[in-house]
Amino acid sequence: MHCYGDLCGSISQLRDAFRRRIALFRGDSSRSWLGRKEYWDAAYASGRYKQSYEWNQTCETIWPYVTQMLGTRLDSAVLHVGCGNSQLGRLLHNAGFQHVVNVDYSEVVIAMMQQKEPSLCFICADCAEPGALGSAECYDFALDKGAIDSLFESNCELMWERGSSMIREVHRVLRPGGQYLVISNGGIGREVLEATFAQVESEEIEGYACDLYYKLITILRCTK
Ligand SMILES: C[S@@+](CC[C@H](N)C(=O)[O-])C[C@H]1O[C@@H](n2cnc3c(N)ncnc32)[C@H](O)[C@@H]1O
Repeated sequence: MHCYGDLCGSISQLRDAFRRRIALFRGDSSRSWLGRKEYWDAAYASGRYKQSYEWNQTCETIWPYVTQMLGTRLDSAVLHVGCGNSQLGRLLHNAGFQHVVNVDYSEVVIAMMQQKEPSLCFICADCAEPGALGSAECYDFALDKGAIDSLFESNCELMWERGSSMIREVHRVLRPGGQYLVISNGGIGREVLEATFAQVESEEIEGYACDLYYKLITILRCTK
């Protein structure tokens, strides 16, 4: 039974990879699948991203930026958007942060994570939908490692609008003076962040992501 599931997962991964190759061969460099919930559900269900996967950078590499922003107030309300199956929520919990909400729109990954980490808080919501994240001005900080990237990197108008809408939604739920840390592959959503937040500071760091590609990662610190 287990082997059959593994086999289906492998076949589905091969099919995904084949479709992407065909799209690239035809000159479609849009990477539009990155913006689709169906892609993420299928990828997590097939085991493509295993039990845990880190996009853009490992948690260890970005941890100093996270702690620098969060400081020592362990009662801060923290929103972790597009959490996937990253370890970041666990690390925040271990560091003593008690009010961390991990959110993703893939119910598949949220179910996986709820089972794996019953003591952490996970919610399933589409952050690009206005109002999806609840009451206005209720979080002190928001963290995003690759979440808005997945919309902007889709490189199509609809996903650009959804990426912009997600930034506005995160902005809405942050308190005045609240901060949004975006760990991005190239800072692709930067112009929308600058148009939405009062201040955006950035720096670039080097490293290797899970896919073992050497990358320049952009760290954007946005203040409401
Ligand atoms: C590139 S992965 C990053 C996952 C994780 N943050 C990490 O560092 O490995 C993007 C994640 O964002 C989620 N996502 C994309 N668009 C979203 C949206 N509109 N609302 C909530 N989650 C979203 C996807 O389901 C996926 O888990």
